Amino acid sequence: MSLTAPKGTRDLLPPQTGVWRQVETCFAETCALFQYGEIRIPTFEYTEVFQHGVGDTTDIVQKEMYTFQDKGGRSLTLRPEGTAGVVRSFIEQGLSSRPYPVKLFYILNLFRYENVQKGRYREFHQLGLEAFGAPGPEIDAEVIALLSLFFERLGLRNICLHLNSLGTAACRQQYNEALRRYYQPHLEELCPDCQRRFEQNPLRLLDCKVAHDHELAQGAPLLFDYLDAESREHFDGVTRLLERWGIPYEIDKRIVRGLDYYSRTVFEFVSENVGTQGTICGGGRYDSLVETLGGQAVPACGFAIGEERLLMEMEAQGVLPSPQSPAGVFIATAEQAAVLPAAGLAQALRRRGISAAVDLCRRSLKAQMKYANRLGLPFSLVLGADELARGEAALRSMADGQEQPVRLDDPDRLAALINSAAPGAK
Ligand code: HAM
Repeated sequence: MSLTAPKGTRDLLPPQTGVWRQVETCFAETCALFQYGEIRIPTFEYTEVFQHGVGDTTDIVQKEMYTFQDKGGRSLTLRPEGTAGVVRSFIEQGLSSRPYPVKLFYILNLFRYENVQKGRYREFHQLGLEAFGAPGPEIDAEVIALLSLFFERLGLRNICLHLNSLGTAACRQQYNEALRRYYQPHLEELCPDCQRRFEQNPLRLLDCKVAHDHELAQGAPLLFDYLDAESREHFDGVTRLLERWGIPYEIDKRIVRGLDYYSRTVFEFVSENVGTQGTICGGGRYDSLVETLGGQAVPACGFAIGEERLLMEMEAQGVLPSPQSPAGVFIATAEQAAVLPAAGLAQALRRRGISAAVDLCRRSLKAQMKYANRLGLPFSLVLGADELARGEAALRSMADGQEQPVRLDDPDRLAALINSAAPGAK
């Protein structure tokens, strides 16, 4: 039998997971600078959450969801994105009683049945956030400022911010009519999906990946040209703040986003390094979603970064953090009588915050030292009958072989010695 991970999924192993952890910690710290708290939501939701949340006519709902029936006959779906689940939780947990804006960030794995290619997986990860209750452009600009600071802290440069507005529901209604007028003469040529989109949700015609329909979309009228005065003012409010902070942006009137819930500001961060899947982050404002899912009318906005694509970009720009080298000591045992004292010393060191390893595979002393070398730990210490009798052993630096005597009954001093040699210690 040969078992493999399902197509589009990947194992993440150390030391790579250490790099992921560093990026995630940087994200959590940046969110904390803007007063966001972490939310954790279930991996699956009732299917309606996504049908109503993301939109029935989107590719995500139509083609990409992992939906199944549980043993109780309920239809459940593995989350294809985070926003709908966070909104469901916002309503269910009564978070609207908290002071506005309610600011929540998340780090999630998501599932979409997609064509697998570079930067496109069936299980992937997002670093995202949602802010509820702030109606003005200031919060839209602030989430972008958070993103910009996060990228800066990671050392990333030249990730282009593309900005657009999808206006209010009223503007979109007018625009949908204009789209129908544009597409009407070509109706017969459209793919079956687009013929359905034409009837149900013309905005989704612009997402089509079929070559002919994609080309046709390039000549379609632009929603930006149908914005009402209020939406334009909101948009100008966002750009004024971005300019004030010196955050460069490009107005990209073709951004429509692949999810139905957006209104007014939408944005994407795009890079050329991630190949055809160049969108590292997408987000925007969604003022009706809380109400659509059964809550009060609460305006909101947010974004999600594709973590795999972010790491690809960091690699391409040469700013991927190197895996942190392991710290600590390997305590080798020269004979059976040293096994218990070694275990005791290791635990005493761990209590003092020092990483310590002992032999757990009953190796010879020579094999233990070889193993210690492979672990890459900076120190080793050998315990044998002689050391136990003297109550003293030699702490050996693995890098240069230098040794210094240490008392076995003074773990505080031993811990201090190991700490003082740790990278970054004074
Ligand atoms: P999205 O544009 O569907 O938006 O996804 C956000 C990001 O997730 C994309 O820009 C991309 O980097 C990454 N991503 C999406 N699909 C895949 C995939 N199959 N493989 C690898 N990476 C992928 C959302 O999910 C919205 N919930 C964002 C949002 C939050 N809007 C408001 N709040």
